[in-house]
Amino acid sequence: MPVPPELFVAGMRLHAAGVTVVTTVHQGRPAGLTATSVCSVSAEPPQLLVCVNRAAEANAPIRASGRFCVNVLAADQHALADRFAGRLGHVGAERFEGADWSRLVTGAPVLEGCRAAFDCTLAVALEAGTHTVFVGLVEAVRVRPELAPLVYHEGEYGLVAQLPG
Ligand SMILES: Cc1cc2nc3c(=O)[nH]c(=O)nc-3n(C[C@H](O)[C@H](O)[C@H](O)COP(=O)(O)O)c2cc1C
Repeated sequence: MPVPPELFVAGMRLHAAGVTVVTTVHQGRPAGLTATSVCSVSAEPPQLLVCVNRAAEANAPIRASGRFCVNVLAADQHALADRFAGRLGHVGAERFEGADWSRLVTGAPVLEGCRAAFDCTLAVALEAGTHTVFVGLVEAVRVRPELAPLVYHEGEYGLVAQLPG
């Protein structure tokens, strides 16, 4: 017997997670969403996964274009997280305004000033309840380890604190 969704959500709120913006471009139109459900799958071959709501505007473009980039946000990019979650009322290409973007291999938008970017071709799309699990084969990676990470925990953005000692 599955647990009630409220209990599931209450548990998942306690799972502190890094914040990403997942981007794609299809037929010249960029699309993206904020996502915490990103996970490493394997290093050989380099693969990761992201779970995207089927109702999210970026879901169909990711599937159709066969490419996406996972941009791991730095601490000072929390406003972008709200923007790509649609919390500020922006849709489609509007979400990309006011930030700098480049490309690596696949052509999916790569966010300047993020901690890490994983540029992927779509390897597997698996339907699971309300979401699609997109597994990406990582074609290129860019890292900026000197930047502080942004985390999401109990519905709030936060910073990572080191243990004393
Ligand atoms: C911190 C945070 C993490 C999120 N993580 C996910 C996620 O992993 N998967 C997902 O489908 N939506 C996630 N969302 C919701 C999407 O960013 C977005 O709000 C939702 O898909 C709305 O759909 P739209 O992009 O069509 O406006 C997250 C939102 C926030 C604020």
